[in-house]
Amino acid sequence: MPRLTTIASLLTAGQTLAFSTVTVPSNISRAVLRPDAYGYSIEPSSLSPYLQSTIASTVLKTIADIIGTLFVPDLDAPSVAEPNDTTVEVLKIRDDWFRGWTEYFPPGTDFIYTLNLRNESHAWVNAMQEAAAAMEALGESLALFELGNEIDHYINKGWRDDSWGTSEYTRQWKRLTGQILASEFYKQASHQPLFQAAVFADPPWVPDQHDEIDDFDIINATKAGLVDPEIIKGYAVHLYPQSTCDEVRRARLSLDLLSNHQVVWTNVSQFIPQQEAAEKARAPLILGETNSASCSGQSGISDTFGAALWTTDYVLTAASMGIEQVYFHLGHQSEYSAFTPLAYEYEGESLTAGVRANVYSHLFLAHVLATKDNKPQQISALPSANASDFSGYAIFGEGKHKHKHLGLEKLVFIDMGVWNASVGLSNPSTLSATDSTSVSPGHRPTRDVRVQTSWPSGTKLQFIRLQGPGTNAKSEVDVSGVSLDLESGEPVGKIRKEKAVVRHGGAVEVSLRQAEAILIQLA
Ligand SMILES: *[C@@H]1O[C@H](CO)[C@@H](O)[C@H](O)[C@H]1NC(C)=O
Ligand SMILES: *[C@@H]1O[C@H](CO)[C@@H](O)[C@H](O)[C@H]1NC(C)=O
Ligand SMILES: *[C@@H]1O[C@H](CO)[C@@H](O)[C@H](O)[C@H]1NC(C)=O
Ligand SMILES: *[C@@H]1O[C@H](CO)[C@@H](O)[C@H](O)[C@H]1NC(C)=O
Ligand SMILES: *[C@@H]1O[C@H](CO)[C@@H](O)[C@H](O)[C@H]1NC(C)=O
Ligand SMILES: *[C@@H]1O[C@H](CO)[C@@H](O)[C@H](O)[C@H]1NC(C)=O
Ligand SMILES: *[C@@H]1O[C@H](CO)[C@@H](O)[C@H](O)[C@H]1NC(C)=O
Repeated sequence: MPRLTTIASLLTAGQTLAFSTVTVPSNISRAVLRPDAYGYSIEPSSLSPYLQSTIASTVLKTIADIIGTLFVPDLDAPSVAEPNDTTVEVLKIRDDWFRGWTEYFPPGTDFIYTLNLRNESHAWVNAMQEAAAAMEALGESLALFELGNEIDHYINKGWRDDSWGTSEYTRQWKRLTGQILASEFYKQASHQPLFQAAVFADPPWVPDQHDEIDDFDIINATKAGLVDPEIIKGYAVHLYPQSTCDEVRRARLSLDLLSNHQVVWTNVSQFIPQQEAAEKARAPLILGETNSASCSGQSGISDTFGAALWTTDYVLTAASMGIEQVYFHLGHQSEYSAFTPLAYEYEGESLTAGVRANVYSHLFLAHVLATKDNKPQQISALPSANASDFSGYAIFGEGKHKHKHLGLEKLVFIDMGVWNASVGLSNPSTLSATDSTSVSPGHRPTRDVRVQTSWPSGTKLQFIRLQGPGTNAKSEVDVSGVSLDLESGEPVGKIRKEKAVVRHGGAVEVSLRQAEAILIQLA
C-alpha cells in the first residue's frame, strides 16, 4: 500500500504538463448556437420564494447584460398547492399568481408555461382557464405552452390507464391545442403563443430508469402524428445524468463521473436519434428540464466548480448535436439550484440564500453565446479535443464582415480533469457536511493547447477563463476576475480579458490548468 501511494504521487508530480494539438476541420458539421441556449426551469412551488428575493433577477440581469438578449424560464406544470411544499399534487392558482413575473425578470425574458394535461374533465377546463390567465398576465413574454409535464409517467402516477401511449397522447394533444387555438381568448389576443410538445422524462438508453411500460419517445410520437411545424416549436425531453432518487443510484453518485466529457457525450448522445426525429418533424429537440442529479441534486457534487465545468460542457455538447436549448431546474431548496432565494434549515444546518459555484457556467457561457447585434452563431464539437478530461468546440459567426459562409469566431476548451483543491471548499448556501476533504497531491497540472486555425497570423485575440480553486470547490470561482457576491449575487470586480495574437500559420497557443475552461475569441 505505501509503495503504491508513493508511485502515484511521483507520477502526479512528474506529469504536470499535458499537450493537446487541436485542428478545426473545414468540413466539420455545424449546428445552431442560440443566444438563449441556456435557460431555467422553475418548479411552480418555488416561483413565489424566488420572487421574494432579488437574487435571481440580479444574477440573470448580469448575464443578460453580457448576452444582450435573453433566455427563457420554463415554468413547470403547476401541480402544487402550498407554496412551501415542493411535491404536492394539485395547485390552485389564482390570477394574481402570475403577478410580478414579467416585472421581476429582466426585460426580454420569455416564458414557457406548462398547462395541466392530467385533468381531462369538462373538456380540460383547468388547462383552458390556465391558458387564458397565463396569456392575459404574461402577454408578449409568453413564448410557448407545454401540455403536461413528464407525460410518460402518467400511467405510473395513476393519471391514465394502460391505453396511454403515443397514439392516445397525440389525439389528446391535438384536441386540447385545437380547443386553445379556437378559443375566443386566443383568437382575440394580440400575441399568440405556440407550443412545445412531448415533455418526456425517461432516457432512451437507460431502461432501468423507466417508470412504466409505454412507447413514448420522439421517434414514436412523431410517427404517431405529433407533427405540426406551424404550431410545434420544439420537442422537449428531460435528462438527469445522475440521481439521488433511490439507494441504488445514490450509491453511484460521483463528482469524478460528472466532470468527465466522455460521460457527458454518452449521456447526451443517446438523444441523437430523438434529435433527428424532431428535426425531421421540423422543430428542434430541447432539454426542457435537466440538472446534474434527479430528485433535487447532491450537495458536494451538484453545487461545486466541477458542476460548473460539467454544465458548460453539457450545454455545448448538446448544442453541437442540434439540441438547441437546455433548461436547468431550479427549486428554492434544491441542492442543485445555481442560486437560492431564501435562507432555510436543511439537514440540521442553517443555509443562507446565495449563489453556488455551478452558477458560473452561465456567467462564462454568456460570453460564448453573446453576439453583436444578435447575429447567428454555429457550433461544432472538435474531434481532436474529445477525451474524458478534455473537450473543445469551434464557434462560427458573421463577424465584422458579412461572409457568405460563417467564419471561425471563437474556440472553447474545457479541461475536465479532476483537481481537488484545499481552499474554497465551503459556501454558506450549501451543506457544510458535504464540504470536500479530498486534496489532490502535488502541483496542479497544466495543459498546453496548440490550435491550428484559419485565422491570419497577427490577428488579435482575447481569452476569458472560467476558473476556480479545484473541481471540489464551492466558492472562490470567477470568470476572468468577475465573481458574484455569495449572498446577493451582485457582480464583483472587472473582467480582465487576456490578450494574445495568432502566431505564424494560424497557430493559437494557450495553457489551461486542470479543471478550467477558456474562451478564445477575436478581439
Ligand atoms: C472531413 O474530411 C476528412 C479528411 O478528408 C475526412 O476524413 C472526414 O470524414 C470528413 N468529415 C466529414 C464530417 O465529412
Ligand atoms: C411557509 O413557511 C414559513 C416558515 O415555515 C411560514 O412562515 C409561511 O407562512 C409559509 N408560507 C405559506 C404560504 O404557507
Ligand atoms: C378536475 O377538474 C374538475 C373541474 O375543475 C374538478 O372538479 C376536479 O376536482 C379535478 N380533478 C382533479 C383530480 O384535479
Ligand atoms: C417505440 O415503439 C416501438 C413499437 O411499438 C416499441 O417497440 C419501442 O419500445 C418504442 N420506443 C420507446 C422508447 O418506448
Ligand atoms: C450517464 O452516464 C453515466 C456513465 O456512463 C451512467 O452511469 C448514467 O446512467 C447515464 N445517465 C443517463 C440518464 O443516461
Ligand atoms: C467523441 O468521442 C465519441 C466516442 O467516445 C465519438 O462517438 C464522437 O463522435 C466523438 N465526437 C467528435 C466530435 O469527434
Ligand atoms: C475529488 O473530491 C471528491 C469529493 O469532494 C471525491 O469524490 C473525488 O473522488 C475526488 N477526486 C479525485 C480525482 O481526487
